[in-house]
Amino acid sequence: MTTDPGNGGPEVPAEGGLVAEVERMTAEERAQHFAEVAEVVAPDREIQVDVGQTLLELRELTVRFGGLVALDAVSFEIRRGEILGLIGPNGAGKTTCFNAMTGVYRPSAGEVLLEDKPLGKSAKHRITQLGIARTFQNIRLFAEMTALENVVVGTDARHKTSVLGALVRSPRHHREEKEAIERAMALLEFVGIADRAADKAKNLPYGYQRRLEIARALATEPKLLCLDEPAAGFNPQEKEDLMGLIRRIRDDGYTVLLIEHDMKLVMGVTDRIVVLEFGKKIAEGLPAEIRENPAVIAAYLGVPDDDVA
Ligand SMILES: Nc1ncnc2c1ncn2[C@@H]1O[C@H](COP(=O)(O)OP(=O)(O)OP(=O)(O)O)[C@@H](O)[C@H]1O
Ligand SMILES: [Mg+2]
Repeated sequence: MTTDPGNGGPEVPAEGGLVAEVERMTAEERAQHFAEVAEVVAPDREIQVDVGQTLLELRELTVRFGGLVALDAVSFEIRRGEILGLIGPNGAGKTTCFNAMTGVYRPSAGEVLLEDKPLGKSAKHRITQLGIARTFQNIRLFAEMTALENVVVGTDARHKTSVLGALVRSPRHHREEKEAIERAMALLEFVGIADRAADKAKNLPYGYQRRLEIARALATEPKLLCLDEPAAGFNPQEKEDLMGLIRRIRDDGYTVLLIEHDMKLVMGVTDRIVVLEFGKKIAEGLPAEIRENPAVIAAYLGVPDDDVA
């Protein structure tokens, strides 16, 4: 990135890098800059279904652990372009649902279809390639890698040659590497942590690590982004900020499945909500409908007040 000294002379590199450069921008320049960042971040994938149509479908999905039925014939759909909330009390089966969708667990029965095609027994990495990305309830990052490297690894899933660790350096490899780094940097900016791009993941503050996980998932250009309690451990202001980011992700063209415990937050950010309890779907609908639903209210009784809107 360069700045124009404004006297018609040659462009000179900015001091202090990208972040300092953004700080020096006028409000107008900054808006323009972030519009460009959003453009780089937007998914560049062909998706077979139109906005509003079913992108992912769970059909009678069942997951058993021995005698425990963690998911019991659960069916619902996620429509392209929406933020779908997946809520329910502790142990309801929310994370199990993500695990069954992303190839961590094999469903005991039922199926998951992405754009009408069954995922079948696809392995985890294959499902990432097909377009489902996720973050984890307990953060999983490459602790010894920098923030930037963690995101570049995510872009790997979409490239023909491996960006990191490739032994043969072809011209295509170099081009892809350069593009991957540029895109990774844009992603760090988009999620608001570009100022710590060069820091090891393990040295980042907790909130940055959560955002870094999201950036890494976005790096795979997912058709569907699944977030498992991304705001866990955040204070109210941090939660608000994160919900703002999730909205921007949706507005940028992504489809989001969001697990979140805080009912108030879920109501504010989601387009529709699916409610699980003891492995079963007990309700589905618009946030306003879910709020009034007697089964949902009953399921959340006994949950501390501040978790219920
Ligand atoms: N690998 C596993 N082996 C055995 N039981 C499991 C396993 N994973 C989950 N379970 C059980 O399945 C049920 C659903 O768990 P899950 O983690 O999906 O719930 P959750 O809705 O994500 O809850 P939380 O809000 O606490 O994260 C629980 O009873 C849990 O103990
Ligand atoms: Mg969970």
